[in-house]
Formats: sequence, structure tokens, C-alpha cells
Amino acid sequence: MSFPSNFRWGAATSAYQIEGATRTDGRGFCVWDMMCRRRGKIWQDQNADKACAHYQRAEEDVALIKQLGLNAYRFSLSWPRILPAGTGKTNEAGLAFYDRLIDLLLAADIEPWITLFHWDYPYELYCRGGWLNPDSPRWFADYARIVIDRYSDRVSHWMTHNEPQCFIGLGLHTGEHAPGDKLGLAEVLRAGHHALLGHGLAAQVIRERAKKTPLVGWAHTGDIPMPATNSSDDLSAARESWARTRPDTVWNHSWWSDPVFLGSYPDEGLRVHGSAAPAFTAEEMRQIHQPGDFFGSNNYRAYTVRRAPDGGIERVREAEGAALTHMDWGVHDDLLYWAARWPHERYKKPIVITENGLAGLDWVGLDGRVRDGARIDYLRRQLLGLRRAVVEEIPVMGYFQWSLLDNFEWSHGYRYRFGLVHVDYATQRRTPKDSFRWYRQVIGTNGAQLDLNPP
Ligand code: FCB
Repeated sequence: MSFPSNFRWGAATSAYQIEGATRTDGRGFCVWDMMCRRRGKIWQDQNADKACAHYQRAEEDVALIKQLGLNAYRFSLSWPRILPAGTGKTNEAGLAFYDRLIDLLLAADIEPWITLFHWDYPYELYCRGGWLNPDSPRWFADYARIVIDRYSDRVSHWMTHNEPQCFIGLGLHTGEHAPGDKLGLAEVLRAGHHALLGHGLAAQVIRERAKKTPLVGWAHTGDIPMPATNSSDDLSAARESWARTRPDTVWNHSWWSDPVFLGSYPDEGLRVHGSAAPAFTAEEMRQIHQPGDFFGSNNYRAYTVRRAPDGGIERVREAEGAALTHMDWGVHDDLLYWAARWPHERYKKPIVITENGLAGLDWVGLDGRVRDGARIDYLRRQLLGLRRAVVEEIPVMGYFQWSLLDNFEWSHGYRYRFGLVHVDYATQRRTPKDSFRWYRQVIGTNGAQLDLNPP
């Protein structure tokens, strides 16, 4: 009953949330820098100019990763640090920073898993229309080429986009995320189509040019439906709910993943979106259809459904008083089981949980310890859920906890803490939380520790 012997025990971060140094060594602006300068957009008008100062502290942070015992670490590259204007001239200091980070990881025997785009979109490209510009897929592929030519002699695990639902949906539709636009659905879906094309072109660049045989994927997200019972009716209701396209929102799974993994938008999606659906050519769809070698999935939230008497799908209300994290996201034991099962059934690819974690009410105690028992319990439940998938022979390659460090949580600023390591932003002091030591034991026992109640 254990995890595969080559299971990736990881943690994840993203450039914008930890690096800081937004104006150091020639980095260009990104849309989030712009968002942070608009009053009222970020909690307490905070910004990520310093964040965790990871740019200056990469060495210390890799030492922490080593101490934690991870065998894989997922991080993203800052596009405007590498290409300050998004295209054209590269910034050698930025490229050299990631050389150093990769070399530090490899020297510590930690496999780098790199995300190309985790939301810090170059501001200069936004001024040229961003993802609405038909050239935007090409811009992304050109950036991918620079990255692959530089790092693929040492790196073999690549993810193109992080959560298209967020940077397109929250960024361009509802506007809570940068660049903060509130476009109509047709423009949103058109931008989304370009982002999908960007994935397809970049995946081809990676596969054609990488010096080490690459594994390519992306990090998808979305709420996960769980069946109320194990009856076949409820199971099929949950499966249908996963695949469904809801009107006037980009929050769904198959609209994004079917084109990449199956080569077409879902029929139901085209019907539901109607005239807002993007126009595209068969050749574009062929470019988008670059299935990952794995299906990367970021999972935080779930909901329960059952088959309704009229044959439809009915949502089951949460029990009163059900557990909530600091961010008001529910705690569901089998989240990762279903998060692995649905896409594996549909796309037949190995699964990687590329993010999962919780925001906790964590602070450094008077004795210097951070007692984050809730995080230990939460992660234990999640990993037991994932183990159920492993036991049922769903191929699961790895698990990346979100996040290594407390960090800049987008529009919430520094309000929510997701880290295994507490960060005091004023002093940049790092304090490993209790969950850090617990996760180290889980990793050290390849998951056997999950069977034991924590002290
Ligand atoms: C995900 C993001 C990640 C972080 C977590 C909490 O949606 O990919 O950057 O914000 O949520």
C-alpha cells in the first residue's frame, strides 16, 4: 500500500510570489507590477517588490529544500526577467539567476520542474494586446525557445502554463487578477484560444529542441466534483460534472484540456458558448493538440454531487460547520483521489499533482515554533486520498505541496500563509513549521508515515 519507488515528493512556488527584486538586474515589468500599483486592488495595497527576497536568498532556500528532503521542486521562470520587453533582447543577468538556481538544485540532487508561465505576463506585451493579440502564441513560443536552449541540458521536466482558467478567467473576465480586465466572453475565449495555441507551440519547441529528453505538461486547475455515494448514478453524475461546460464562465475542465489532450473543444462547450466561442482553423487545433506526457493538476477545492430524480446533476450542500481553511476553502479527504481519477479516465495520462495545500493561521510562537497542526492533518488527508488513487492503479507520478514558503498570494497580498516554512517579511527570517518536519518524515518513509497519527 505504498507510493511508487520513483514517486516525486515535491513542493511548488512561483517566481512572482517569492522572488522580489522586481527592479533588479534589468528585469522588465509584468502585469502584476502594474496591478500592485493600482490602489485597492491588492489587500492593504501590498506588493511583491520584496516578497520572500528569493532572488537574493536562492542558496538559503535550496538548503531548506534539501533539508526538507524533496526529490523534486517545481518553480516558475519570470518571463520579464528573461525578456524584459517580452520579446526581443534577452537579459543575461536574469538568465544567469536561473542557471544558478538550477545548478544549486542539481548539486543537492533535487529534480527541477519548471513552469514557463505562472502569471507574470510581460507588461510590454500586455500593451500590445496581451493574449488577445494573434501574435501572442508566437511570443510565448519564442520565450520557450530561449529557455529550452539555455536550460534543457540540465532540466527535463517542463510545464507550459499554470492554470489558464486563472490568468484568462480571473485576469481578463472577472478582473480580480492582473491585468484586471473585464472583457466580454467572446474576447475572453479568444484570448484563451491564443493561450492554448501558446501551449501547443511551446510544447513543440520543447520537444523539438530539448537536449535532454523532455517530459512536457501543464498545470491545470478547477473544482473537483465528488460523488455523494459510490452508486453508479452518483459516480456518473460526478464524471459528467467534471466534463461539463457551464455558461458564461471559463471555470471548467474540458474546455481547456480537451483541445490539448483530445484535439477538439468539447461539443457541449461549443454549444453552450455559442457565438462567443472562438473561430479557429483545423490547423490551429492541430497545433494546440500537443498532449502532455503527464496531466498536471493543481487542486484545492471540491464539491459533492448526486444524480437528481429528474436525471440531472444535483449539488449536495456542505454539512453545517464543515471544516474550512483560512481562505474559506473546504477540507475534503478524497479531493486528490477524484482529481487524479477524472482526468486519467478521460485522457489516459499519468497524473502529477502540481499543487495542493492550504492557507493556515500560522504565526511564530513565543517559543519560536510554528505549530501548524491543521496543515499536517490537511496534508495527511490529501495524501491518503492520493494513495487511494495509487492503490487503484491510477498512475500518479508525484505530488507538489503548495508551497515551500509563505508568499505573496496575488490579490490577497501577504494575508494568507500556505508555506511549510514561515517567512517574516520584515526580516526575511525563515522558520520551518511543524508541518515541514512532518512532511520530511512522510518523504523519508515514502508515505508510510501517513498511517501514523502525528504526535
Ligand atoms: C493557485 C496558484 C498559486 C497559489 C495557489 C494558492 O491557484 O497557482 O500560485 O496562488 O493557488
